[in-house]
Amino acid sequence: MGQGVLSPGFSRVDGVLHADGVSLERLAHEVGTPAYVYSLARIRAQYRRLETALAQAMPDVPHRLHFSVKANSNLAILRTLQECGAGVDIVSAGELYRAREAGFGGTDIVFSGVGKTADELRLALEAPVLFVNVESEGELRLLDEVARAMGAVAPVALRVNPEVTVESPHEYIRTGEKGHKFGIPYDDAEAVARLAHELPNVALVGLDMHIGSQIATWEPYASALARIRPLFESLRVAGIQTLQWLDLGGGLGVTYEAEAPADVDRFAAGVAEAVRGLGVSLVFEPGRFLVAEAGVLLARVLYRKRSGGKEYVITDAGMNDLVRPSHYQAYHRIEPVTTPAGQLVADVVGPVCESGDFLALGREMADVGPGDLLAVHTAGAYGFVMASNYNSRPRPVEVVVDGDRYAVATERERLEDLVRLERAHLQWRSA
Ligand code: LLP
Repeated sequence: MGQGVLSPGFSRVDGVLHADGVSLERLAHEVGTPAYVYSLARIRAQYRRLETALAQAMPDVPHRLHFSVKANSNLAILRTLQECGAGVDIVSAGELYRAREAGFGGTDIVFSGVGKTADELRLALEAPVLFVNVESEGELRLLDEVARAMGAVAPVALRVNPEVTVESPHEYIRTGEKGHKFGIPYDDAEAVARLAHELPNVALVGLDMHIGSQIATWEPYASALARIRPLFESLRVAGIQTLQWLDLGGGLGVTYEAEAPADVDRFAAGVAEAVRGLGVSLVFEPGRFLVAEAGVLLARVLYRKRSGGKEYVITDAGMNDLVRPSHYQAYHRIEPVTTPAGQLVADVVGPVCESGDFLALGREMADVGPGDLLAVHTAGAYGFVMASNYNSRPRPVEVVVDGDRYAVATERERLEDLVRLERAHLQWRSA
């Protein structure tokens, strides 16, 4: 079910917002609010859109989409993408655990991240993963040691910082500019690659880059690839014949407000052109593109209030449930589930005791009142995964919709869960 829907996602049926075939009004009644709701059909459609564009642009270049688990690590979402044929990009032992639970095999996994521990590297080699994206000389040497102790040879791709300028909506989500903490500085990359080639317990199998997130244009990719390709070629000329992979990060943009969605055909054609004749296999690590627009955060209006000439809409979802507006000043479209008459301009805020607790500021929106339901759009990526228990608020329920069915994918946390790992009565030990 859901697979045949032409334009899957969120639309109105008889005035009520639906996730595919499921009324969000009914759903809120069944599971309560706040609630994250995901359309599986929309995720599948996004996957197919990107995969088809890549397959058409470069039919003879082996490639695979490795979903970036950090964007949405719910097991049901991972499982859906696994069934689509995706691999995963992970950045922690926790994400590795989730990926295995969702059914991904070792070679479906690439392990990225700027600060992996020895234990995480060991787990990566036990899997064993397809390759580890190494971000520093120190990590490379540690991985070599860990692999030696295990009698293994670790497959490694070096994450190189291409040091390009990227336009993205917030500086926190740029990752490939000179001086960033990510990757190996471009000028050091050749020397570290040669070291990787020499170390006995690592095999240099690829190069990796990631330049940022929510990137609207092709140009930064072009500039980055124009720096990575010659490096790849010169390493091969230097005799590193094990080099097979190019891992091309995430970064494809989606629509939050009125942004044009990523031009995946342009992207695919550009990559095809950039790797032509290189004889390489490609990994892509999309996160946001696959899941962002497939999710909403459902919230209920608790109160209306006027203060200092300003209108407030106070909802039962706050910055602990969706931190993007507060943390990145990110815009998320907010729509009432049923359509009240009239418009207003209001700050949409949560119950958390911080003035920075808002979902929208100065927003022109429907004139909603207590009891009305709101859908906060484009919340499928970096939504629930960034939620916290701040103010001792249980994290929301996560629900997946498939056609006209729904299922609870993560139960709402209970109050007992909040203190499950804590002790009021301490067991002291002498040090
Ligand atoms: N691969 C690596 C190594 C990454 O660091 C990231 C995202 C991705 C892939 C996926 O990128 P995407 O396709 O989602 O753009 N929390 C921020 C986004 C941080 C992204 C960090 N890295 C937000 O809410 O906008």
